[in-house]
Amino acid sequence: MAVSLHDLITSELRHFFPGPYLLALLFIIFFINRLLTPPAELRHLPCVPVIPLLWSFISGETENSRIKRLLLPFMQDEGEGAVLVYALGRWMVHILDPKIFKEVSDDLNQWPKEAPPTEMLFFRFIGKTNVVLSNGKTWQKHSKIIQSAFIRNLPIDGFSDLAEKLFKKMGEGGLIKWDDWTMRFTLDAIGTTILGYDFEALEDDNSSFLKQYVGVMEAMASPLYLIFPRLETLLPRHKVIKEVDSLIERFQDVLDYKRNNRGNDMLTYMLEQPGMTQEEYRDNMVTFFVAGHDTAAGAMASLVYYLARYPEYQERARKEVIKALGNDQPNTKNLNQIPFVHACIKEALRVNTPVTNPAPRISVSGGTVQGSNGKEYYIPPNTSIILSITSVHCNENYWTDAGTFYPDRFLGTSASDQARIDTLSWIPFSRGPRQCPARHFAMYELKTVAALMLKSWEWSLPIGSPHAKGIKNGLSPFGLSSPKNLFINFQKL
Ligand code: HEM
Repeated sequence: MAVSLHDLITSELRHFFPGPYLLALLFIIFFINRLLTPPAELRHLPCVPVIPLLWSFISGETENSRIKRLLLPFMQDEGEGAVLVYALGRWMVHILDPKIFKEVSDDLNQWPKEAPPTEMLFFRFIGKTNVVLSNGKTWQKHSKIIQSAFIRNLPIDGFSDLAEKLFKKMGEGGLIKWDDWTMRFTLDAIGTTILGYDFEALEDDNSSFLKQYVGVMEAMASPLYLIFPRLETLLPRHKVIKEVDSLIERFQDVLDYKRNNRGNDMLTYMLEQPGMTQEEYRDNMVTFFVAGHDTAAGAMASLVYYLARYPEYQERARKEVIKALGNDQPNTKNLNQIPFVHACIKEALRVNTPVTNPAPRISVSGGTVQGSNGKEYYIPPNTSIILSITSVHCNENYWTDAGTFYPDRFLGTSASDQARIDTLSWIPFSRGPRQCPARHFAMYELKTVAALMLKSWEWSLPIGSPHAKGIKNGLSPFGLSSPKNLFINFQKL
């Protein structure tokens, strides 16, 4: 009588494991096998090996180094424009190729934003009725109101006032934990210019708002709960939930305050235009806060880091600023006369991009996308899609010496890069209709601070800095990425 392989293995295993243990072992094998194997409809796509991925999550590797180490070789070495990745408890297709990135970004009907996993606390925090996550008519309504509020508001004087506050706090300089101060600066920038409310993060060393916000973001980013979001319902973290809800209440208080204290800020402009519900206003406020605070803080920290690491660029940028601004305060005219500083900002946004990827998209009816080299990928219906900004920014095929901070590539001095830069591959604000509506706001915020800093301070990396050989980002989830524990030595000029 023929004996099947399955019978053979189970009878062999029975020698070693008695009944219940065997059942448990088979269950574990089945579970691991399911975990490691993509669903049938996605198996035609190239797949990033799961074990190194899981290890990367568990060991707390940052998202951008995981992307560079495990995903990017698929595009650089094998010419693959899309890969399958196991993340957050499910399989997702990561888009590495800028041509496919464009195709997916541009078509909102075929590739809309995906509904977020309801159990994740991050989405309890930012809500579901905001501009980043909504689709269709709701998104159009939010986007229109927000775009018109941004057009009315380019608060260069507000940024300058905050920079002066920051400089006062920096006193005579010395060793300063720069990532903390960029967080405080951008928090107050969002507070005063967008929400019309001063959180006093720069003034108050013990800002309770900042502490609560940082605590909540860190708790929501627990790797275990990120890999297995279902744990939020199986093992609910009551204390964290309470903190999240209390932070949401604080935003609601700001909204209530703003209704009776209108000013020259975006929230006032938004409130002037009817069409949003209470919940939508509040969710958008929280979203602005997260979208505009951590992103700009990361960019500001990276820029100062690279200018510390390359003093020759810092000096060149300073000379340019002194020539363009003289004794004047920054304004739209003189800030447009500092092309090298602008190039340094663009390069910092490229080489250490603050948003590794936008919120996931979903394929509605399935479709085939084509990479730059003509390779085609069929993406079945209901597949989650991640547009990988980091992969595009770090690809050696598009950027010569991609890992090096080299601002001149944006000034047309490097012919090989220049051809590609303005077309597809510089996308820190994403691209298409869902790109960042605050990109001009953010670029002016960065230019104002950079110009004022270059006029008032000189800075360097301290001896023995852990960032001496390369910038080290903190573990920060939800597609955000910024330097952590970045100490910089400042001297007053
Ligand atoms: C250097 C700073 C910034 C970077 C790198 C950045 C990057 C991005 C990216 C990549 C997206 C696309 C996200 C997605 O599709 O899921 C985005 C969207 C968005 N950003 Fe920014 N951002 C920055 C600053 C800001 C600021 C200061 C604000 C507001 C105060 C802001 C508000 C938004 C909003 C509301 C969206 C959603 C747009 C939509 O879906 O229609 N961002 N940003």
